[in-house]
Amino acid sequence: LLLTSRFIALFAVCALLMVPPLPAAADDEIVFTPEFLEDVEVLAEGKKIWVKRCALCHGQRAYPGKAPKLDPSKLEIQFVYKRITKGFRGMPAWRKKYDDKQRMSITAYIMSPGFSN
Ligand code: HEC
Repeated sequence: LLLTSRFIALFAVCALLMVPPLPAAADDEIVFTPEFLEDVEVLAEGKKIWVKRCALCHGQRAYPGKAPKLDPSKLEIQFVYKRITKGFRGMPAWRKKYDDKQRMSITAYIMSPGFSN
């Protein structure tokens, strides 16, 4: 009996070691509800961050060629969130600077009718 339970314990440990780690925060599965996208406070927060952090590269008065002018009608919301979170080449990642809700708010603002460069 002792041997059997040891065997089971050993087996359990092996099984645990073989379980692949859960993928860290799945950025692809962010859910943007219509309520969130239309929330006035969310949009205000997103705009505040845009003006402070993003416009200097992306805005109308940014040095030409520094960064693409964003055209939300050509962008997918999940793509925008992912770029903001992870960055890409000349685009910095903002995951450490802004929490999930803040990055979602910037995204909501960019995709909103009130967005302007
Ligand atoms: C230091 C300059 C800089 C800052 C600051 C910056 N970006 Fe960018 N961003 C870039 C560059 C350069 C690219 C293009 C990267 C590439 O595709 O090579 C880019 C790309 C993007 C894209 C993808 C556009 C596309 O059509 O592929 C989005 C969305 C974006 N930025 C949003 C933001 C937001 C939101 C902020 C503020 C939180 C921000 N950026 C701040 C430089 C910047």
